[in-house]
Amino acid sequence: AYVVTEACIRCKYTDCVTVCPVDCFHEGPNFLVIDPDECIDCMLCVPECPVDAIYADDDVPADQRHFIALNAELAANPKWKPITLQKPPLPDAAQWAQVRDKFDQLDR
Ligand code: SF4
Ligand code: F3S
Repeated sequence: AYVVTEACIRCKYTDCVTVCPVDCFHEGPNFLVIDPDECIDCMLCVPECPVDAIYADDDVPADQRHFIALNAELAANPKWKPITLQKPPLPDAAQWAQVRDKFDQLDR
């Protein structure tokens, strides 16, 4: 499955959701995840993300492997509802797009 990683946190551009043929993105307050049980590995979402947050599970950078389990966990959280329509990015998305270590900013 494909995996949303750290770059998405506090950005949430949502370009990715419009192209997914199986509607497998789920939305939290400041991050999106992919439901690994639904993703069909089509790769369509990868080039849509302005901050390159989406990777195939095999290609997730070594320091972000924990996002694989995190996507599965949060996709199963009933508070994280499916999202299929694009919405405006978070207000400070442009600033947060430059920040590397922001896992502590994840809001569940
Ligand atoms: Fe959806 Fe395809 Fe991206 Fe999986 S790889 S999340 S199926 S767009
Ligand atoms: Fe996040 Fe990129 Fe989608 S910032 S919401 S993974 S377009």
